[in-house]
Amino acid sequence: MQKIYLDYNATTPIDKEVAKAMLPYLTDYFGNPSSTHNFGYITKKAVENARKQLAALLNCLPDEIIFTSGGTESNNYAIKGSTFYLKDKGKHIITSSIEHPAVLEVCKHLESHGFLVTYLPVDEFGRISIPELEKAIRKDTVLITIMHANNEIGTIQPIDEISKIAKKYGIRFHSDAAQSFGKVKTDVQELGLDLMSVAGHKFYAPKGVGALYIRKGTKLEKFMHGANHEQNLRAGTVISPSSIISALHEAIISTSESLAVIERTPFFAFKKKLPNIASVCFFSTTPLISERGCNKVSRCILNIIYI
Ligand SMILES: Cc1ncc(COP(=O)(O)O)c(C=O)c1O
Repeated sequence: MQKIYLDYNATTPIDKEVAKAMLPYLTDYFGNPSSTHNFGYITKKAVENARKQLAALLNCLPDEIIFTSGGTESNNYAIKGSTFYLKDKGKHIITSSIEHPAVLEVCKHLESHGFLVTYLPVDEFGRISIPELEKAIRKDTVLITIMHANNEIGTIQPIDEISKIAKKYGIRFHSDAAQSFGKVKTDVQELGLDLMSVAGHKFYAPKGVGALYIRKGTKLEKFMHGANHEQNLRAGTVISPSSIISALHEAIISTSESLAVIERTPFFAFKKKLPNIASVCFFSTTPLISERGCNKVSRCILNIIYI
């Protein structure tokens, strides 16, 4: 029996082109990008190329990106780094009740260190309410962290509207884009974010590589202590001896191409491709598509009921 893998939100295979691009960096070009000799220089060039490519996709400057080990680390650094840096200003955080554990567990941990967290409820489509968000803001609110696309039902939160509220009250805004980067547009200027997390293995790069966008001027308390890597923001030999970074670079290129294809594909064309199915219901997302337009759900994250 032929097995079909349908769990691409959990992880993706490494793209064959990506694997091909990685190979020389695993064997021949293995230098530490921080080394000042030629071996280091070659890998540093690959790392910085990847950074530029990612910056172009996110519409930010290359030095506003640090490479991390994935979505979990990026979320941890964004949330803990922000709240510890801002703790004298206030200790209140706002998030949603449907975040990934890589955010919820960080918030719970911070509660045990005296921080206060508001978990906003969501409606039947998985969206938070902007008036409720505004009501939840207090004098001591220092961070709003709301995911971009939800990993279970694909709901896209109104990030641009949330960022307007965050700006109005001078509150820092982070979003976990692990499930949206490479699938829907993630322009950090349009979204108005201060911090955004990216996870490589959700878009055909290897596991254990990711990125954190940090808007210029956004100060974080250091999370990984050690040598002066990644602009002294993340200690540890730059991830990951550029084989991985090169892979991320290639993945980004193939992702940006496939993003254009996804954007051109009519949403319900997918339905036609499912053989021998009497009826398919796009669970929880259908009303959003018909009533409020396709941009409210990720076309790559579908929850389907076979009837
Ligand atoms: C929304 C979301 N955030 C964070 C993560 C964690 O990312 P990583 O596995 O790269 O640590 C995941 C992974 O499933 C996710 O779906």
